[in-house]
Amino acid sequence: MKVHTYERAFLGLGAVVLAACLGALFYGSLGLGIHLPTRAGRIDPARVAATPPFDQPGVRQTGPNRYEAVVVAQIWSFTPAEIEVPAGGEVTFTMTSPDVIHGFYIERTRVNLMVIPGQVTRASYRFDRPGEYLLLCHEYCGVGHHTMQAKVVVK
Ligand code: CUA
Repeated sequence: MKVHTYERAFLGLGAVVLAACLGALFYGSLGLGIHLPTRAGRIDPARVAATPPFDQPGVRQTGPNRYEAVVVAQIWSFTPAEIEVPAGGEVTFTMTSPDVIHGFYIERTRVNLMVIPGQVTRASYRFDRPGEYLLLCHEYCGVGHHTMQAKVVVK
């Protein structure tokens, strides 16, 4: 079978692109450790208010320039409603829901999560730029869904 030169070049190019994409995928997942946020624990949704750390929602310092923000997402608000962190701080968000599934999206960041009753969700982000970031619920959670918001203030 005769394969035309251009056809062969095109197939070769396709193979190179495929190999490059697979390489990038493996480098990202194995080399850089990039992966989707996974379940960070289980919790009884009926006892969220009595279960640490959710019995005391808020921001606390966990190390030099490191913070943990414990957030409860419930119909139709986030507790705390304002999360304040210094610029350059690495913030680990730990959250859960006592009622239904909520969303957790911080504008202008890659923080985009689901908050599921019975599960603990965790993700980290470093806020380099000062400013106010809107925190939205982006999973439909009932009649008050459109009012469910909070903010992250980076100083
Ligand atoms: Cu909570 Cu929509």
